[in-house]
Amino acid sequence: MGNVGKILVVDDQRNMRTTLAMMLRGGGHDVDEAEDGEKACDLGASGAYDVVLTDLRMGEKDGIDVLRHIKQEQPITEVIVMTAYGTIESAVEAMRLGAFDYIQKPFTEQELIVKVQKALESRRLHGQVQLFAQEFREKYHFENIIGRSQAVRDVLGRVVKIAPTDATVLITGESGTGKELVARAVHANSRRQDKPFVIVNCAAITETLLESELFGHARGAFTGAVTARRGLFEEADGGTFFFDEIAETAMTFQAKLLRAIQDGEVRRIGENRAIKVDVRIIAATNVDLVQAVEEKSFRKDLYYRLNVARFHLPPMRDRQEDVPLLVQFFLDKYNRKMKTRTKLGEGVMERLQQYDYPGNVRELENMVEQAVALAGGGLIGVDDILPQAPSKASTTTGKTLADLVDAAERDAVENALRSCDGNRERAADMLGISPTTLWRKMTRLGISFDSRS
Ligand SMILES: Nc1ncnc2c1ncn2[C@@H]1O[C@H](COP(=O)(O)OP(=O)(O)OP(=O)(O)O)[C@@H](O)[C@H]1O
Ligand SMILES: [Mg+2]
Repeated sequence: MGNVGKILVVDDQRNMRTTLAMMLRGGGHDVDEAEDGEKACDLGASGAYDVVLTDLRMGEKDGIDVLRHIKQEQPITEVIVMTAYGTIESAVEAMRLGAFDYIQKPFTEQELIVKVQKALESRRLHGQVQLFAQEFREKYHFENIIGRSQAVRDVLGRVVKIAPTDATVLITGESGTGKELVARAVHANSRRQDKPFVIVNCAAITETLLESELFGHARGAFTGAVTARRGLFEEADGGTFFFDEIAETAMTFQAKLLRAIQDGEVRRIGENRAIKVDVRIIAATNVDLVQAVEEKSFRKDLYYRLNVARFHLPPMRDRQEDVPLLVQFFLDKYNRKMKTRTKLGEGVMERLQQYDYPGNVRELENMVEQAVALAGGGLIGVDDILPQAPSKASTTTGKTLADLVDAAERDAVENALRSCDGNRERAADMLGISPTTLWRKMTRLGISFDSRS
C-alpha cells in the first residue's frame, strides 16, 4: 500500500484501544495511544499526527472535545470518530465540526483500514495545499493577509491576476474587512510597486480642500493660496492612487475626478495648462454604490469607470472559519509587540468563534490586543474578551474618531515643525516617520508648507 502514517488512537476502554492499535500497526502505521480526552488533546496539539481515531463517548473530555481541540490547533490533522450503534446524531455533529469521517461500532478491520487510508490521502493533499499556500503568500507579499476561507483565497487569486494590469479597481465591503490591505496588495504586486501609493480619505476632508489637494493650484487661485502647489495626482505620478470612502464625495467633485481619470491629465486650480499624469486608481467604499447611483448621490458614469475589476470583501460573520487563524495571528503579533507569551484560556477560542464581529477584522484585532494587554502575559480568560465595535453602521462615530485622530496628528506635526524651525527633515525624524510620510500628512491635514521661517 505504501501509504503509512502517524496515528493516534483514543479510547478509554483498554481492550478496544489496544486492539485498534494492533490492527493499525499491522498495517505498517506508527501508532500512539491515549486513554482519555485530556491526554489526546495534549498529544494531538503537537501536530505530530496525520490521523486521530477517537471514540466519542469518554469521561471528562469526550471525543467531540478532542475533535474541536485538534481542529483548532492542527487543522490539517484528520480526525475519524467512532460512534456506538444508534448514535448517528453525534456522528453528524462531529462531521459538522470538521471530522473527516465516522465509523460505527462494531466494525471490521477492513472497514477501519479503508477509512484510515482515505484520511491519510486527504491529509497528504492538504499538506501540499498548505505548503503551496505558504510559498504563494511569500511570493506575493500576502503574509499579512490571513484567511483560508474560499472568499479570501478567491480575492488573493484575483489580486495576482489583476495587480499587474493597470485596471481600475473597486473594493467594496463593510468597515474593517481589509479593503486597504487589499489595495496595498494590488499596488505591491504591480509594476508600480516602487512608486508612490497615495491614500486620500474622501470622508476626512471638505470638497474644496480635496480638490486643491488632488489637482494642486496656481498662486493666488483662491484666498490663502500664497504659492503655487503641485497636487497629489502629480506627486503620485507613476504610482497608485487609493480613494478611500469614495462614496463620500460630492457629485461635482465626482465629475472632475472622472474627467481626470478618463483623460489621464489634471489641471491645477486657476491654471489652464493640462498636466499628464500616469496613475492607477483604486477606490474603496463600504456603501452600496449601485444604490447610491439609484439615489442620485453617486454618478453612474464614474461608477462604471471605477467598477472595472471588483473585489468584494465579505464580513467576518460569513467567514467564521478564518477566526482561529486571525486570532492566532494577532495573538502572535501583540505578544511580540508587548514582549509577552500570553495564551488563550479554556473556552476562549469557542467564545471568539461564536461572536459575529460587526466591526469585522479590525474589531477582532482590537479585541485580541486588549485581551493580551489585560492578561499581562498569563492566560486570556473568557472575561478578557470584550466586544469593541460600536453598534453597526454608525458612520458618524467613525468620522468623529477620524476627526479626533486628525486633530491629534495635526498637533503633533505642528509642534514638531515648530520645534525644528520648520525644517521638515528634522521634524520627520523627530516624529519617527519618513519625510514623504510627513509631507503626505501635512497635505492631508492642510498644514501650511511655508512654516519654514
Ligand atoms: N485578512 C486579514 N488578515 C489580517 N489582518 C487583516 C485582514 N483583514 C483586515 N485586517 C486588519 O484589520 C484592520 C482593518 O483593515 P482595513 O483597514 O484594511 O479595513 P477597511 O476595510 O479599509 O476598513 P474601513 O472601511 O473601516 O476603512 C487592519 O489593521 C488590517 O491590517
Ligand atoms: Mg479603510
